Amino acid sequence: MHFRTLIAAAASLLLAACQSGETPAAAPKASGEAMVAPILTGADAVDIHSFAKPLEARVTNVALDLAVDFGAKRVGGTATLDIQARPGATSVVLDDKGLEIASITTADGKPLPYSVGAVDPILGAPLTVQIGDARKIVVTYKSAPDSGALQWLTPQQTAGKKYPYLFSQGQAIENRSWIPTQDSPGIRQTWEAKISVPQPLTAVMSAPRVGEPQATGTTRQFAFRMDKPVAPYLIAIAVGDLAFKPLGPRTGVWTEPAMLDKAAAELADTEKMVAAAEKLYGPYQWGRYDLLVLPPSFPFGGMENPTLTFLTPTFLAGDKSLTSLIAHELAHSWSGNLATNATWADFWLNEGMTTYAERRIVEEVYGPKVAAQQVALGQDAMNKAVAENGGTAGADTRLHIDLKGRHPDDGLTDIAYEKGAAFLRTIEAAVGRERFDEWLKGWFSRHMFAPVTTSIFLADIREHLIKGDAALEQKLALDEWVSKPGIPSNLAPADPQAFAEVDAAVAAFKTGAQPAPEVWKRWTTDEKLRFLTRIDKQQPKERLTALDRAYGLSNAGNSEVRFAFLTLAVAARYDPAVPALEDFLLVQGRRKFVRPLITALAEDKEWGRPIAKRIYVKARPLYHPVTVRDLDKLGLDKATTDQPLTAK
Ligand code: BES
Ligand code: ZN
Repeated sequence: MHFRTLIAAAASLLLAACQSGETPAAAPKASGEAMVAPILTGADAVDIHSFAKPLEARVTNVALDLAVDFGAKRVGGTATLDIQARPGATSVVLDDKGLEIASITTADGKPLPYSVGAVDPILGAPLTVQIGDARKIVVTYKSAPDSGALQWLTPQQTAGKKYPYLFSQGQAIENRSWIPTQDSPGIRQTWEAKISVPQPLTAVMSAPRVGEPQATGTTRQFAFRMDKPVAPYLIAIAVGDLAFKPLGPRTGVWTEPAMLDKAAAELADTEKMVAAAEKLYGPYQWGRYDLLVLPPSFPFGGMENPTLTFLTPTFLAGDKSLTSLIAHELAHSWSGNLATNATWADFWLNEGMTTYAERRIVEEVYGPKVAAQQVALGQDAMNKAVAENGGTAGADTRLHIDLKGRHPDDGLTDIAYEKGAAFLRTIEAAVGRERFDEWLKGWFSRHMFAPVTTSIFLADIREHLIKGDAALEQKLALDEWVSKPGIPSNLAPADPQAFAEVDAAVAAFKTGAQPAPEVWKRWTTDEKLRFLTRIDKQQPKERLTALDRAYGLSNAGNSEVRFAFLTLAVAARYDPAVPALEDFLLVQGRRKFVRPLITALAEDKEWGRPIAKRIYVKARPLYHPVTVRDLDKLGLDKATTDQPLTAK
């Protein structure tokens, strides 16, 4: 069924009961001009990471009117929420993490009673508003200076060194620390925002800009409107000294002026990638695809904020060798942003499908060899994730995972990404690319602007791909893939020849040989990474010296290569690399890089832990709250953690 038909078919189904395994009711309906996406009602669609009770009352639109106060490290103003409620419902429950609420009123200013419930350290607190028969409410509030979504950078922490900078990171459950709404991926909302910032800064958000900025004295106000319903974790903001450069007719890059040319050069293939993604997935639904290259403390490689992907500057390698990241974030414009995991237990649907699509886009733009190598690197990462998550019987090696009592970030492993991608490759291999691609396009036309669960995925595959073919059903082992730990035996393996030359070099390295500098220079980044991640983790110091001398690894300009070498250095307690390690941990704050290095140091009590302590004191103020939250668990800021405290 096509999207338009679905709008009509679903028109009367809002809040109506539907099993999450059924597809039609999952599509949004048009109500007046705004699109309202229904809520799934299956038991497996209940989001344990939100206090909202969306089947009672749910937010459909958020209108923000906020001022950005760099001095106080707060955003503050109003959030006006449109609410749809079950007949007779008199309250709505929102998610709140540390918001400072001044008042909640009806649209015409009549105060409404509200209460903030007990605080859960992971989830924050329920904010229950007695709405009576009001269906529009106005929350006047400020974010706290320690909001988990927001990072406030001093001018020193930016490329230009002249102006402060603010950016947000919403996924998974951070946006409740700056937006009072129902912060659940299954509760899609349209949204709009008016944002006042100090002159001459620019605000950008994950939505089209409306009109030109309005200057008023010392501030400028920017307006944005997202008229398609999105999961609230996808609302994002950045404010700073930003410049824009077009990359193609519907693509462009925002970043600080000093970074603009370098960023635009690295992103030169973006328009081609959008074309490749459309060929695979169907039409791009969001209008423009722009990218924002952030300062180096951005905690992720990338974040798929609609219309405006947020990116780490550590992907700027100078040779486009790390741009599979762009293919990944772009692919989320379908897998993740159109069809969205209904709960964080279904996270593999976002990331596994996106990782699969990332490599299909890479294949189209850079050729089958590059794609096959990235598949092979992915399978190594998958196997490592299995080992790190309890082995083939480990509960967290299941695609559909149990996050009860845990933070959604606990599911942020290469199980979701790489086992998920391997699952889809396995299905592709079984049915053939043509049939698989037809299903893939159909999946998005059936589930666009809708939440999806693992059971919806299985039901859809059975209805539209397997179609009762018992032999195929058995061959695919769908239930084993999603519900059982480990890797099913029908895995479509990576091409064992993908890295033939490098693998030979790895074998030779074991016997004492080392690739000649010309060979190393000729290798692609993926080939270098294969080498550095495949040689034994415990290397004698002399061998690390020889590698570093020959190829300049400890200070490599390519962040992934540098990270791979520094990982070996820490494992080998290789002192000569410590200055480079310290530098790497202080010039960027990408969690994927800083967490494993600092953790490995911290776990090496004699050699590494003192180094970790010394560096972390300096690095901590540079990192985003989501990075700090994890690293603080290592106890590096405590005077001593080696000895258990004994009571006197
Ligand atoms: N959506 C993720 C980032 C994310 C996931 C943030 C969960 C918070 C919670 C993004 O698309 C992503 O996967 N980024 C990767 C890059 C990718 C190429 C694997 C990253 O940041 O490393
Ligand atoms: Zn992703």
